[in-house]
Amino acid sequence: MTSRRDFLRTASAAALAVGAARPLLSWAADPSTVSVAGKYGMIVRSYRFLDLEMPVELMTEWITPVNHFYVRNHMFEPAKLDVNTWKLTIGGEVEKTLTLTLAELEKGPVHFVTNALECAGNGRSLQNPKVPGIQWGKGAVGNAKFSGLSLKVLLEKAGVKDSGKHVAFRGLDEVPGKVPPFVRSIPIEKAIDADTLIATHMNGAPLTQHHGFPARALTPGWAGAASCKWLTEITVLDKPADGNFMIPGYRLPNTPAKPGEAMKLEDTHSVTGLTVKSLIAAPSDGAKLKPGKQEIKGVAWAGEADITKVEISTDGGASWNPAELGKDHAKYAWRLWSYAWKPAKSGDYVILSRASDSQGRVQPEAAVWNPSGYLYNAYDQVKVYVQA
Ligand code: MTE
Repeated sequence: MTSRRDFLRTASAAALAVGAARPLLSWAADPSTVSVAGKYGMIVRSYRFLDLEMPVELMTEWITPVNHFYVRNHMFEPAKLDVNTWKLTIGGEVEKTLTLTLAELEKGPVHFVTNALECAGNGRSLQNPKVPGIQWGKGAVGNAKFSGLSLKVLLEKAGVKDSGKHVAFRGLDEVPGKVPPFVRSIPIEKAIDADTLIATHMNGAPLTQHHGFPARALTPGWAGAASCKWLTEITVLDKPADGNFMIPGYRLPNTPAKPGEAMKLEDTHSVTGLTVKSLIAAPSDGAKLKPGKQEIKGVAWAGEADITKVEISTDGGASWNPAELGKDHAKYAWRLWSYAWKPAKSGDYVILSRASDSQGRVQPEAAVWNPSGYLYNAYDQVKVYVQA
């Protein structure tokens, strides 16, 4: 495992390369631009606490390879996590406190969930007016096959008391200075869903350091913050966890805020499930295309709902046509889509995508603004020029 010092050394070398401001596709094509152990062609949003974004042009596969999967860390990754002494405890409002080693956890039964994990702040840089926070572009999202033990199995073994209404996760991040630890809770109903995992594997291999080795929570269909990495403590509570990452962190106004408006904490709720959203992976924004047949393609997901339709407009929203949905699909996963397009003449085109889901939600033309820039999901858009 790369030590933090080694990591920072490679990271600072790569930071010099970042200054060169290369176009997006050359990031993707040239692995020497970013040197982070286990990662390739990523956009660096932060080095101090590692935040890496996947270029949208790489979203052409159903399963995102781990080396392209985004990383979101609020603090330092644990530098000295020894898997031989690592333990997971389950306590709080339970009949019996449990302590498990990794070997015990991996005894199974193993449950698989393919999940589009998306950071609540994905797309924040597109919010208007601007909001503070990591200025994510489109790529704080990826689709991976996670596996591990259902949290439900452990909760049943521990015996949740009637008073147990919420389940809090704590990770082993290295907390710098006065930063509060990363603790978030989910309601018991979601915790006992068989698809909520203590995941130890991602795409068939043990979790890597950046994604929470040796175990993470996986709360499928929900914003990434509910999926605590480097998990060490699960606590059943009689009320939601408190602390910075629950209040004021990761909250949305109960009624849509006016753009630029501050919100009162008592008028907010915790971010839970993801919204309906599509992204265009090809062609790239700003591309110059030759005349003739083009394939417009991308991905779409809808948290706990299913994607039912993706529509494409090649005339800036004046008319829409259905895209073809990819054959691979699973609950919580993203869906590939493609649309065959033959531009009638040369010139500038605005291509838009919009997804609909099984809950009747439709990706909106403009996202609902909120002070933290969470769950941005306006139509995706690329502008291209067709040259005859
Ligand atoms: N877990 C811990 N312990 N510390 C963190 O900073 N970040 C959360 C979540 N789990 C975080 C964490 C957030 S905000 C997101 S979006 C996801 O992890 C990102 O998971 P990934 O880095 O594996 O893509």
